[in-house]
Amino acid sequence: MEINRENLPLDQILLEDSLQLLRNLPDQCVDLVVSSPPYNLGKEYESRQALEIYLKEQTAVLLECSRILKNTGSLFWQVGAFSDRGMLIPLDIRFFPILESCRLIPRNRIIWARQHGLHAQKKFSCRHETILWFTKSDNYKFNLDPIRVPQKYQNKKHYRGNRKGELSCNPEGKNPGDIWLFRNVKHNHEEQTIHPCQFPEDLVTRIILATTNKNDIVLDPFMGSGTVAVVARDSERHFIGSEIEPKYYQVALRRLNGNPDKNGYFPNLKTLRDYVERTGQSIDKFKFEVQVGNKASERSKAKIYPEEYHLQEMEDRLIYEESAFAANLRGEEIPVDPKLNGNGKKTSLQNPIVKQVEEVEQTELRLWS
Ligand SMILES: C[S@@+](CC[C@H](N)C(=O)[O-])C[C@H]1O[C@@H](n2cnc3c(N)ncnc32)[C@H](O)[C@@H]1O
Repeated sequence: MEINRENLPLDQILLEDSLQLLRNLPDQCVDLVVSSPPYNLGKEYESRQALEIYLKEQTAVLLECSRILKNTGSLFWQVGAFSDRGMLIPLDIRFFPILESCRLIPRNRIIWARQHGLHAQKKFSCRHETILWFTKSDNYKFNLDPIRVPQKYQNKKHYRGNRKGELSCNPEGKNPGDIWLFRNVKHNHEEQTIHPCQFPEDLVTRIILATTNKNDIVLDPFMGSGTVAVVARDSERHFIGSEIEPKYYQVALRRLNGNPDKNGYFPNLKTLRDYVERTGQSIDKFKFEVQVGNKASERSKAKIYPEEYHLQEMEDRLIYEESAFAANLRGEEIPVDPKLNGNGKKTSLQNPIVKQVEEVEQTELRLWS
């Protein structure tokens, strides 16, 4: 179905309620909806409402999102948990049937793992949020090549059979999987603005590159500081969005505009750095608003590592994959995994926990021999 793009507010963020924007858009006009809606968590921009009222409002927004999505389109809805006096309801559990009732088809439930967060006193600390990916039909786009991450054993070869000597895995890298570890946009993050809940740009880039093509249209009904707009533009896609809060709307416009305000301020450090690189001006002149084996072995011979080791392994690996992804996006040299020497062989590790485990292992081996 062909749409007339001239009637769309292309490459604009409107300062208005998301439903107002959505209701003015024609059927099947956007390729991707990606958003983190207000969570009803009592953040400064929200009034605390009953969960059911909140979900009813969100249902109205999602019905419209489904209507305006093209047949080949995708929707990514990023949510955390609703918490009230110690009770915690993971919101994706409540959103899942709502999205199904909007006649959308589930594809992935992505875990966005966090290294840091609040330390709970009476329950396990939350260390993840979720991103639900639904599509309008089975005829959806998924471009794996632009979002591949390095294989763990990139140079591993078949050691027998017809393909002996050939690489046993795709040299271009692997599917990044459904556990993502993009760093929170908090302290010391160059993208941080005055908005309390920003998307990291790389997270949005992965979604946009995977599910759209150049010139496609990406919509975020809850733009906040404008991350989806900035990434869509930088990825040569078009954007449409709405934001109800004037101060965040202004931040989004200033991120897109890329120039300092009359007092020499930028909305974040990244916009400032981009500007001085582009213009050759001195960085000192400007300021930004926020500082920012297949064979079974006997148990007695199994290597037993403490839990910290496994946690550290997962974290180190995912951090490495995301940094390699970021380097790839920026055309920089892909870093070598610090734990592997580039040939799929383990290197001696600097990590104190791993070093400690290696020492324990060696002591154990001496005891066994
Ligand atoms: C979780 S934040 C989105 C942050 C955004 N992903 C970013 O990277 O900055 C949700 C945003 O929705 C806005 N919002 C809340 N209700 C809205 C409504 N009815 N229409 C449009 N925007 C709304 C809030 O002001 C807030 O900025």
